[in-house]
Amino acid sequence: MTGSGEFGERRLRPLVFLAHNPISLTGIGLTTASALTLIGFWVVAVFGHGGSANPYVGIIFDLCLPALFVLGLCLIPLGIWWKKRSLRATGQLPTEYPAVDLRNPVFRRSLGFVLLATAINFVIVGTASYRGVAQMDKPSFCGQSCHVMAPEWTAYHVSSHAHVACTECHIASGMSGYVSAKLNGARQLVHVALGKYSRPIMAEGKVPAASSTCLHCHNPDNFIGDKLAVKTSFGDDEKNSVTHSLVLVHVGGKDMAGRLNGIHGAHLGHIEFISTDNTNQTIPWVATTNGDGSVREFVSADTKVPEGGQKHLMNCIDCHNRAAHSFDTPENVLNKAMASGRVSASLPFLHKEGLALIKADYASQADAESKITAGLENFYRSQYPDAWSQKKPQIDEAGKVLSAIYGENVFPFMKVTWGTHPNNRGHNDYPGCFRCHDGSHNTKDGKSIGNDCSTCHNLVAVDEMNPKLLADLGFQ
Ligand code: HEC
Ligand code: HEC
Ligand code: HEC
Ligand code: HEC
Ligand code: HEC
Repeated sequence: MTGSGEFGERRLRPLVFLAHNPISLTGIGLTTASALTLIGFWVVAVFGHGGSANPYVGIIFDLCLPALFVLGLCLIPLGIWWKKRSLRATGQLPTEYPAVDLRNPVFRRSLGFVLLATAINFVIVGTASYRGVAQMDKPSFCGQSCHVMAPEWTAYHVSSHAHVACTECHIASGMSGYVSAKLNGARQLVHVALGKYSRPIMAEGKVPAASSTCLHCHNPDNFIGDKLAVKTSFGDDEKNSVTHSLVLVHVGGKDMAGRLNGIHGAHLGHIEFISTDNTNQTIPWVATTNGDGSVREFVSADTKVPEGGQKHLMNCIDCHNRAAHSFDTPENVLNKAMASGRVSASLPFLHKEGLALIKADYASQADAESKITAGLENFYRSQYPDAWSQKKPQIDEAGKVLSAIYGENVFPFMKVTWGTHPNNRGHNDYPGCFRCHDGSHNTKDGKSIGNDCSTCHNLVAVDEMNPKLLADLGFQ
């Protein structure tokens, strides 16, 4: 070959020549290695039983490896640029480039190589991004890969939405919702890495409004009508005396004639409110906008309305805020366990002792588990030796269930305990409906938001031993 040919070839293969530097070579190595591993993993995932339930497998293969792949790709041009700069600095790089000539076979081969490599990389990055996004949308990624989510993850599994992906409620539909959720997620990841997240984690109004989440599955106009709620409670006496409350809740909705009625119907219009805290527990100002555009303001006599407070449009989540993560109250959860027979109501003082045990302070869930079981055993061994000898299996089972109840609701490491996440549906355990329906939110002309007991429900029976209706319905 002539001197000029050699020079031309070297210049026509600038990639090969310039990429021969430590940075680009590392890049090539990284890209090739991660690409081969990824392709191998995908082949196994498609043809074998590749799908693993372990969220970390997904994180490594769908997020970390693709990131390495892209990092490698970025290192290659970076190395080329660096080498070119140092060559230029030492005067080894000609300033005049020879003309590009497509008729030159060497040039055509290099171009072909670059195009092919680009196409392959495109497919790999494309598949990886798709899988990465799918991975990040899985409940296991949101709930399990990060231990700070343990409380919500646990409560989610015992809710009626256990099969609804986290993203369905936490990411508003559309591109902007998606991007803002991912940016928020990235910020949280940094906080977790630095250990700077709040304990407990609170929603702080960051959950998108129902219109872009819940209403994809639920029809707001659905007419539900009346619903009978039965609540069974046990006493703190030796016999754990049973009482029942029966309320016929006027859930309502939009009826066949298009009329709005009941609880759902009353709030389907335009209701705005201002709250003074980030969990919307204190609401000093409420306003309804009627069909003709006129506004009626209800102002609390007890709390001052903050200057320039932000108005919030009331939606499903202002009542159903715990639809997917209903941390219960100790009284309710124990009553439910006893009513369903999970815990035997035949054990003397079980309600009183059990409640004291699950309400006590423990250092961790493991600590609670051992102390709750031991506490219950001690109680029966020392106070009720007969029950201890005759009902050992029931006592063992009660200990297990009480520990499980604690484990589903209290997470000492996240400072999530009884009552940290109020449920707004109802008014007996938390302010709930009475945040507005307390009789002291008044208009200028003295009208208040209805708080007559019969506005929302018929009280069929309140804490009765043997409500007639229950017997009529065949429950006793
Ligand atoms: C059916 C809808 C729904 C689903 C599904 C859902 N969430 Fe939520 N989540 C909510 C709502 C509504 C709130 C706001 C609670 C409030 O304001 O009190 C919330 C709040 C939270 C919070 C803030 C802390 C708290 O307890 O208030 C976290 C963290 C959270 N969710 C994580 C998750 C994870 C992880 C998943 C999936 C495993 C998930 N959520 C699935 C509706 C949902
Ligand atoms: C992907 C669909 C889907 C989304 C999104 C969804 N839900 Fe549901 N929801 C369901 C299904 C299905 C059920 C019925 C579950 C059952 O019958 O066990 C249900 C049940 C309910 C119930 C009755 C049971 C209960 O827990 O009291 C309420 C209330 C409810 N959803 C509210 C909400 C709210 C509020 C949101 C938004 C934060 C929401 N849902 C988002 C599918 C969804
Ligand atoms: C003012 C508070 C409030 C608002 C706002 C509200 N709900 Fe309800 N909803 C209730 C109450 C109270 C019940 C009855 C509680 C029960 O299930 O015992 C209920 C019951 C339900 C049920 C269960 C019905 C059944 O058959 O068991 C569903 C589903 C539901 N609501 C969905 C929604 C959706 C979707 C929205 C938003 C369009 C919404 N709710 C808005 C208070 C509200
Ligand atoms: C953010 C404030 C707010 C909350 C919280 C709230 N409501 Fe309301 N509610 C209103 C307003 C405002 C009206 C309309 C009052 C009016 O126009 O006179 C209303 C009306 C009603 C009505 C119709 C009253 C009537 O006289 O016809 C019912 C029933 C009702 N609400 C039930 C509930 C239930 C049940 C809850 C809790 C699950 C609840 N509300 C929570 C603000 C609220
Ligand atoms: C603004 C609507 C509203 C008003 C007013 C109201 N309640 Fe309720 N009440 C509810 C809702 C919602 C529930 C929850 C039903 C459920 O659990 O599904 C409830 C539940 C109950 C229960 C059942 C037990 C329990 O712990 O859940 C009792 C008892 C009760 N209310 C008593 C009263 C009495 C007494 C009054 C009058 C002083 C009253 N309520 C006024 C909405 C209301």
